[in-house]
Amino acid sequence: MNIFYKNYTIEHHQELDSTNRLAFKMADGNQIKDYHVIVADRQTSGKGRSSRIWQSIDGNLHFSLILRPKIPTNKIVQLSFVAITALRLAIQNIAANKPIRIENKWPNDLLINGKKVAGLLLESSINQNNVVFVIIGIGLNLTASPDNPMFPASNLKDFGIDLNKQQGLEIFLDQFEELYQNYLSYGFRNIKNLWLQAAYKLDEKISINDGEKQIDGIFKGIDDDGNLILEHNKETIKVSVADIYNSD
Ligand code: BTN
Repeated sequence: MNIFYKNYTIEHHQELDSTNRLAFKMADGNQIKDYHVIVADRQTSGKGRSSRIWQSIDGNLHFSLILRPKIPTNKIVQLSFVAITALRLAIQNIAANKPIRIENKWPNDLLINGKKVAGLLLESSINQNNVVFVIIGIGLNLTASPDNPMFPASNLKDFGIDLNKQQGLEIFLDQFEELYQNYLSYGFRNIKNLWLQAAYKLDEKISINDGEKQIDGIFKGIDDDGNLILEHNKETIKVSVADIYNSD
């Protein structure tokens, strides 16, 4: 059964292999329109970045939002920064009185006090130079944290933030709509600034792994393609795919 929330249509499932997978299949078959959201209580094969598995524990929020934006294909990646910034602001608003630090870790993780509480996986379909659809998949740890995470992990409840799945989804969708409209009207600059305001380890030493090697350097921000800018041996390099390691 679908629920209508503002401009969004929310489709709820108890169990799926992956909300991103179903969203992709349905969007590809032209069965769903803009602003459709697929939520699952459990995912048996949740997808993480770089072909990793996203442990999808009951009680946490797992959803995919389908968009059909009229933007050039080279700007698709910017939408992941719109969405993760929206999630950060939404959580920041409801936790305003709590002594916690909420940060964006490049590219699309959300940290509270240095621990990962959410991740985002963007997938898209393009036709020549047109965007057919974009899927923004988000996993938000509300009450449980994964076992043996690659990066230290936690959940909102551990920081005294009590949100159920519906509330978590709605505060995100509200904030996303505001930032998305701002982005479509004014472009990436505002979003990039908002993201940078809470960027984990900005201007600090970081270690990244691009799948082949470790590179150390100073994190200098992001460019308009969402690449990480790293100052390394007095040179500036740009990295499109990598993980920042916890070098504490
Ligand atoms: C990451 O590796 O940090 C990204 C994780 C993204 C997980 C979410 S959960 C909902 C959606 N469906 C999926 O299969 N993956 C994303």
